[in-house]
Amino acid sequence: MHLGVCYYPEQWPQHQWESDARRMAELGISRVRIAEFAWSRMEPEPGRYEWAWLDTAIETLAKHGLKVILGTPTATPPRWLVSLHPEILPVTKDGVKMNFGSRRHYDISSEVYREHCARIVTQMVRRYGKHPAVIAWQTDNELACHDTSPTYTEAARERFTRWLAKRYGEVAKLNTAWGNVFWSMEYSSFDEIGLPNLTPTDANPSHWLDFRRFMSSEVASFHGLQGELIREHAPGRDLLHNFMGFFTSFDHYEFARSGLDVAAWDSYPLPRTEVLWFDDAEKHRWARSGHPDIPAFNHDLYRGVGKGRMWVMEQQVGPVNWAPYNPVPKAGMARLWTWEAFAHGAELVSYFRWRQAPFAQEQMHSGINAPDDRLTAGGEEIARVAREMAAFAAPDYAANAATTTTKQAPVALLFDYPADWIVQIQRHGADFDYQRLVFEWYSCLREMGVDVDMLPASADLSGYKLVLAPSLPVVPDALVAQIKKGDAHWLFGPRTGSRTADFTIPATLAPGPLQAVLDVRVAQSESLRPSLRPGISFEGVQGQGRSWRDYIEPGAGVEVLAAFDDGVPALVGAGTVRMVSACFDPALLKAVLQRSLRDAGIATQTLPEGVRLRRLGSVCFAFNYGDSTWQVPAPDGAQFVLGSRELGPVDVAAWVEQR
Ligand code: GAL
Repeated sequence: MHLGVCYYPEQWPQHQWESDARRMAELGISRVRIAEFAWSRMEPEPGRYEWAWLDTAIETLAKHGLKVILGTPTATPPRWLVSLHPEILPVTKDGVKMNFGSRRHYDISSEVYREHCARIVTQMVRRYGKHPAVIAWQTDNELACHDTSPTYTEAARERFTRWLAKRYGEVAKLNTAWGNVFWSMEYSSFDEIGLPNLTPTDANPSHWLDFRRFMSSEVASFHGLQGELIREHAPGRDLLHNFMGFFTSFDHYEFARSGLDVAAWDSYPLPRTEVLWFDDAEKHRWARSGHPDIPAFNHDLYRGVGKGRMWVMEQQVGPVNWAPYNPVPKAGMARLWTWEAFAHGAELVSYFRWRQAPFAQEQMHSGINAPDDRLTAGGEEIARVAREMAAFAAPDYAANAATTTTKQAPVALLFDYPADWIVQIQRHGADFDYQRLVFEWYSCLREMGVDVDMLPASADLSGYKLVLAPSLPVVPDALVAQIKKGDAHWLFGPRTGSRTADFTIPATLAPGPLQAVLDVRVAQSESLRPSLRPGISFEGVQGQGRSWRDYIEPGAGVEVLAAFDDGVPALVGAGTVRMVSACFDPALLKAVLQRSLRDAGIATQTLPEGVRLRRLGSVCFAFNYGDSTWQVPAPDGAQFVLGSRELGPVDVAAWVEQR
């Protein structure tokens, strides 16, 4: 467990670097990420490199025992590069070319830009690749952020055409796969195929899905290109990228396969609560703490992306600048978020940023220090966390090697990026949101004290007692094979198996390949306006469906475990495989998930509002996002490594559960 900070030496006078480094070390920080936006200082003119300042910055940090994470500067091509090659500017879905003057102003498909990236990364990694203080490399910064992928440039079109030619071989195959006979959309050569934007009405969904797949592979290959150079010149260093929360424009599992040691992500719980789907009451409820499941959802997701290795690269410490409203967090939140990240397996929690900048776009974004260099309230909390971390290093405690290792959770929750693309391409109901659905299932499990691993549908799922897929439009055959051979319990949600990989309806209708283990047929599906709420009673809970409903017809050996008042099946099952037909309100969802947990032999707990538990090795953590004090369920005589049995609001407790 390490603490880190994002630092921009190029933004401060050199005489300040020494005291910055000293104060970081004094605060308990051991990792510093630098350089990810500093291209104009590394190469002020084409081919003229200036490394002296960066040499000094790294040496200054190293002198104070700090280890450095170097970011490649490719999120910010300098002005001269844009002047030389204006064609690298990205184009929006509406066909508008973006301007220089902020960041991410590049087309990820531009081969010219890729060459310049390879050049600057090669220079950088040759110079610092083997530097003893440089322990990790971050490619770019938040790839695809600010809606910069997909991009709709001529370069993207050319590469997309080549990608399609490789995928289909013959254009006739593409025509058949996409169903291009519809509306005379047939092509006679790959060159004729454009991007799916700017069509009078919807472009073919198969065209969109392939374009999303292509763009996802563009993001992965952009990272992979830099990753290869880093691997070559920086042996033994961790290769990472800082991903965003709730971001699905590319498939992160595919990205990881292009070369990744650690999945790092940027955690901003307050603005995220403000911009997600929550209603106003809920946003108000969690305005100063963030929704209790927002950080953990992403910790568990990215731990899966990083195959067990996860960092928080940027952690909010105080108010930020980018949501519609940006309140100050409750006192204690920076500490709580930090411990919660560690409890979910983070190896590093790094704060954004060392000092608030008095200039430019983020002058309203706080940091560990105010612009006048005084520690902020969040900064004080970090000092406290650093002192508490010493408890984890105490000899009697550290002797228990299992303490900081994440164990496999009892439940696997499948998160599928193409599922989100498919729903976005053909939403069909205005409020059907894939990420929201997965989050609601996740949240429900967490409210019952259950630990969760989030994984792709392609993962090896052996060892899980219960596997949940809130929606999986394309069911891979390999998943069905896992169902057949394992003894886990399975629960699938609405729209499962409703599409083939080509974005067509399966010949035997939904749930497609899942019919091999659950003999049902979805005869029709409906989206539900907010006022259409079919009622249902299940295990004593009176609930409602919302947004979506599949009309499931049970076949041989399938039991209807619950039905809506109008007779439409709500929950069906055969053996250990079950499917729900709709999105449910929270109470009903809880009853349905509780039933699956019980049948799978997984214990649940009743927790007060806003309290969450998480086990890490032999330690159980409790986090209180709520307003009341709670007695944590630690066994008599349990050793507390953080806090005590009494868990107040915005507080953390951790005790050794078993030796
Ligand atoms: C992140 C980004 C940082 C900074 C931060 C502000 O998305 O990576 O550079 O802009 O947001 O919250």
